[in-house]
Amino acid sequence: MPSTPPTGDPAPADGALPASAAVDAHDRRFGVYLHVPFCRVRCGYCDFNTYTADELRGARREDFAADAIAEVGFASTVLQRGGLPARAASTVFFGGGTPTLLPVDDLGRMLGAVRDAWGLAEGAEITTEANPDSVSADDLVRLRAAGVTRVSFGVQSAVPHVLAVLDRTHDPERVPLVVGWARDAGLDVSVDLIYGAPGESLDDWRRSIELAVGLQPDHVSAYALIVEEGTALARRIRRGELPEPDDDLEADMYELADAAFAAAGFQWYEVSNWARGPQHRSQHNLAYWRGDDWWGVGPGAHSHVGGVRWWNVRHPAAYADRVRAGVSPAQAREVLDAGARGDEDVLLRIRLADGLPVSTLQIEGRHAVPGLIADGLVDPAAAIHGRLVLTIRGRLLADAVVRRLLP
Ligand SMILES: C[S@@+](CC[C@H](N)C(=O)[O-])C[C@H]1O[C@@H](n2cnc3c(N)ncnc32)[C@H](O)[C@@H]1O
Ligand code: SF4
Repeated sequence: MPSTPPTGDPAPADGALPASAAVDAHDRRFGVYLHVPFCRVRCGYCDFNTYTADELRGARREDFAADAIAEVGFASTVLQRGGLPARAASTVFFGGGTPTLLPVDDLGRMLGAVRDAWGLAEGAEITTEANPDSVSADDLVRLRAAGVTRVSFGVQSAVPHVLAVLDRTHDPERVPLVVGWARDAGLDVSVDLIYGAPGESLDDWRRSIELAVGLQPDHVSAYALIVEEGTALARRIRRGELPEPDDDLEADMYELADAAFAAAGFQWYEVSNWARGPQHRSQHNLAYWRGDDWWGVGPGAHSHVGGVRWWNVRHPAAYADRVRAGVSPAQAREVLDAGARGDEDVLLRIRLADGLPVSTLQIEGRHAVPGLIADGLVDPAAAIHGRLVLTIRGRLLADAVVRRLLP
């Protein structure tokens, strides 16, 4: 079962937003995240809010699209009543879970509901995540026809023993095939990789990088494996069946990836993300990192509108009960004050290649800047121009940099 949610303040049953949520809304973009909480099997490292068939306790995949569409209608009313201006969605992101376990028609209906509620901005980025073994060539053509513009494949590794330790079920030889189908369908392609799995060597990782680069995607994400409490992976490591992750090896893996991606024409634009030119950056993720507004639809989905953050009940059955009763599916929420919003801005923007304006820092953070330059963690030339941009050493130690900027 997935991990426990954060605590927070009670969320009103009618979803009403405080007046503060509408302030300066014209300056923020609006996006929609749709969380599809189904997987065929649970990967041992994953603590995302997702359920296999025998964990659904009466909730049915077949009903999901209708429930999500009900939440879209609810969301549209809440934003209107809250005095938010009508904004077309700049991005829509189907995440999971495994969105492509649903029929393409269901994804198309949900996208249609978003279009009906808010409209889609000119050139809107519409992404779906997909596991390489959960899509066919025909699905990809139909996803494109339904309006999807981008697909993000969970490739993770090219090496069978690494895929096995991660419990990934796909055959690595299928990956070039599905990527080719996506490209032929006219979709932008992103590839997700994970490094630092127990037993993975630097040479194993090199093979995964070579696979990813050889696929010629538009975008690559490479995440260090996080051993989440409560997962099967964490239990296996605790029992001594698998070795603990090695920080030094992970640092070498990151440097290898960054050099290989750069040589292949990708630029880093966030610590774990590289794109073949600015037009291929994930606009949806950038909206999170820049503090824009988004409504998260679905069980356990998080939303943010003008400093108000809330998260939905996590089980699909509890979620279905709420949305069918016309009640907010939010489990709890928090209203961030200016200080908390400022801190969050530092935390997220420092990870971007565009950098963090020094002017946004509090006095203690500004005092930390010379030390960060001296320690080789931020780029001195950018700092002279008033922006903090992490060096590669800074990217490896991004969390430590944040602790120094937000003492
Ligand atoms: C939650 S998955 C959803 C998409 C799809 N089900 C999949 O697995 O590819 C999105 C991405 O999160 C990353 N991820 C999930 N759990 C992780 C963990 N414990 N450590 C690092 N990355 C993780 C993986 O790279 C994965 O591709
Ligand atoms: S397929 Fe993706 S979402 Fe599902 S359990 Fe595996 S990592 Fe998690």
